[in-house]
Amino acid sequence: MAKASVISLLSLFICIFSSLSFAYASASAPAPAPSSNQQMRFEVLGHVYCDTCRVEFETSISEPIPGATVRLECRNRTDEKITYQSPEITAGDKGNYKIQVTGDYEESDCDVMLVKSPRADCNDPTEEWRKARVVLTTLDGVSGEIRFANNLGFKKKEALPECTKVLTEMGYFELQKELGSEAV
Ligand SMILES: *[C@@H]1O[C@H](CO)[C@@H](O)[C@H](O)[C@H]1NC(C)=O
Repeated sequence: MAKASVISLLSLFICIFSSLSFAYASASAPAPAPSSNQQMRFEVLGHVYCDTCRVEFETSISEPIPGATVRLECRNRTDEKITYQSPEITAGDKGNYKIQVTGDYEESDCDVMLVKSPRADCNDPTEEWRKARVVLTTLDGVSGEIRFANNLGFKKKEALPECTKVLTEMGYFELQKELGSEAV
């Protein structure tokens, strides 16, 4: 496959995904920001899935993991001390979770982390996707209470047999050949 078509394929994916998340974000339009003398409240929304193909990204045959647990942690960007730590939060029946946070964390890096999977066949946390960065401040120009975290996945012990077909349809193997396995 020529490099140009790989690039257009990639741009197509990016287009589709960004328009999807845009639609999602605008469908649940956040309430107007409260006045600044009030304590800021954030609601962090995310999803935990089982990476049934062991590729470290979501595919059409990834599965939600109800009952998976996650934790949100913020660390001071300068001295790395913990500035906020949520209790363990359990994902609901569609693998979706909601974490409520009070306060503004402009000087911190905040990440949602996988804690535990209830599925014995799918409990290997995918190293690179283990954390999902969320911005918990309104002082950088992002307004609204609702903050979306990137989806987090546990890897299944054994890939499903359908993965070859699904990944081929996604153009994964061609992309892998083109870019080398490390880049994908
Ligand atoms: C972050 O750490 C720096 C350096 O120790 C400190 O000056 C600052 O007040 C801390 N900020 C917060 C929000 O804890």
